[in-house]
Amino acid sequence: MAFTKILQLSDLHLTTPGHALFGARPDERLAAAIDLICREHGDALFCLLTGDLAEAGDDAAYAELARLTDRLAMPVHPMVGNHDRRSALLKYFPDAGDGSGFVQRAVETPAGRLLLLDTLDPGHGAGLLDPQRLAWLESQLRQHAGPVLLAMHHPPLAVGIPSMDQYALRNAEEFWAVIEPHRQRIRHILLGHLHRPIGGSWRGIPISCTHSPNHQVALDLVSLPPDGAVPGCQEPASFAVILIDDDSVVVHHQAMDEGGKRFPL
Ligand SMILES: [Fe+2]
Repeated sequence: MAFTKILQLSDLHLTTPGHALFGARPDERLAAAIDLICREHGDALFCLLTGDLAEAGDDAAYAELARLTDRLAMPVHPMVGNHDRRSALLKYFPDAGDGSGFVQRAVETPAGRLLLLDTLDPGHGAGLLDPQRLAWLESQLRQHAGPVLLAMHHPPLAVGIPSMDQYALRNAEEFWAVIEPHRQRIRHILLGHLHRPIGGSWRGIPISCTHSPNHQVALDLVSLPPDGAVPGCQEPASFAVILIDDDSVVVHHQAMDEGGKRFPL
């Protein structure tokens, strides 16, 4: 089986078009990522956007997201993060929800069923899967046999960055209780929120995360400032290019700036 390619862009943090955020223009950064996708990855099956699509959840940001992503040849699957507002996202991307009001749904791939989870808890930086969303996940897992991939903005695990670990999924144990009976067929969990390329596993299930196109979380494994602030930085941005077949899930991080001309090694 040939690889299926999917793309993951995360934490776009779009502002009102033209407004900078942390020294960069999120609309320009997303446009640059889309240029790169059009040049290098136009054969992807779809592009997954793992939350924090708008910095402040305003309509103008989602309108800009719809305008910019309209250039992509493949379908786009937006998800919510803690910065998002469901009603505004669904106004511009009505197919992103399942009709429940949550931004959750299932997407078929040749290598398994991808479940897109909604971990937004409005007003809070940390994530939550309430009983209604957990029931949806449980029913998706129970009703459909075969391999599964999950995507969710908030990580269910601590990653050793104290300033971010305080904003992880709050009820990871309840989430685990739902997925644990199916763990052998859960192939991978794609995460947002962390603004860093991270790989590893949680209780035996592989996980990965990718940069933001606009601004990153510094690799500060030690300190939690008294005010709890997250240390930001402008290390080079990337997005994930994920190759999947029946045997493997391979996560590449596509740098948005390769750093000059290629050369023979
Ligand atoms: Fe974010």
